[in-house]
Amino acid sequence: MASDQITCFQDQVWLKDVSEKLDQKMRFIIRKAQGVNYIPYSTVNGEFKPTDINWWTNGFWPAAMWQMYLMTKGDAYREEAVRTEAMLDQALRNFKKLDHDMGFLWLIHSGVRYRLEGNADSFDRLLFTANMLAGRYNPHGFIRAWNNWDQTARREGWAIIDCMMNLPLLYWASRATGDPRFKLIAMSHADTTTKYFVREDGSCNHIVIFDPETGEYLDNPGGQGYASGSSWSRGQAWALYGFTLSYMQSGKAAYLETARRVARYFISQVEGDWLPRCDLRQPAEPILYDDAAGNIAACGLMELAKLVSGIEAENCFRAAFNLLKAMEQRHADWSENVPAIFTKCTSAYHDLPGRHITMDYADYFFIEAVNKLRGEKLLFWYPDQKD
Ligand code: GLY
Repeated sequence: MASDQITCFQDQVWLKDVSEKLDQKMRFIIRKAQGVNYIPYSTVNGEFKPTDINWWTNGFWPAAMWQMYLMTKGDAYREEAVRTEAMLDQALRNFKKLDHDMGFLWLIHSGVRYRLEGNADSFDRLLFTANMLAGRYNPHGFIRAWNNWDQTARREGWAIIDCMMNLPLLYWASRATGDPRFKLIAMSHADTTTKYFVREDGSCNHIVIFDPETGEYLDNPGGQGYASGSSWSRGQAWALYGFTLSYMQSGKAAYLETARRVARYFISQVEGDWLPRCDLRQPAEPILYDDAAGNIAACGLMELAKLVSGIEAENCFRAAFNLLKAMEQRHADWSENVPAIFTKCTSAYHDLPGRHITMDYADYFFIEAVNKLRGEKLLFWYPDQKD
């Protein structure tokens, strides 16, 4: 599944065109990134917004650099990835501020560098952060998502759907060390997520709160979506891709079935204009989009397409392509007015300043998807996968 599945000449032209635009735009963004002392995440008035070094998205920029390096072989990309990987050591030194986001923060660039170059420091970063992630496991079967950042809530019993994307770091650690504990924690968390997060129709909760002492289910607040019982689209996308990755790395068939169920639901909610709303059950007005959800889902659908067959595989692939093309044509800014590409991302439904902003991981997943379409085999969420 790659560019050879894009049989239409116009689609081939589109792929070539966006690849060239990506190279041009990302070189511009590197120049901007090298002028600030933090890692890019979002923008305000055409400039980067300063971001704390412990912010959960900080792995996507070096990961985007490795994706661009694989696409173009340009040394500037590798150098920027290595520069910002080293910057992230400050977050390790400040580890008490880290939540569960270790896979987002390290696997997708340190894992890639270790695979490509065997760098020993990258290996150590992965093993260290895998241990920290495993340390957040509650023996009632879930990984604690967030710390108690403020006095608004105690979060010892909070688990979130996003964590499915951090599990690949644990699978990696078991393969790297031969110790199954990391994988067993990942599978225990994925089992709990299947039971408490994914609904019969394939839609998902964002947050589930358990009693951290007894494991009893307590609540499922709306989180970054519209309301409890709604369907935050980025959460759907994390589930779609996360269960696909858990199946690939554990072989447990139930995870593939869950990924297929979430994918069917996601496709059914976005087919039409292929521009995912922030919440798939939000009110008709205002129309709030989330390009990050679409790009994450597109990557997940392309991996899922390799694991299923026939018409289902074709549907997954075609849905991914439709999402990418629709969002690129309607929401991408290829100019030098802003150091980011996708302009209609939403951090959370009720976060008013976070509506229709840029978010670097929307761009990251678009680049990952374009690389898949071009035939790139290295899966950043499974960087040690055998060819
Ligand atoms: N909580 C991670 C996200 O916004 O997707």
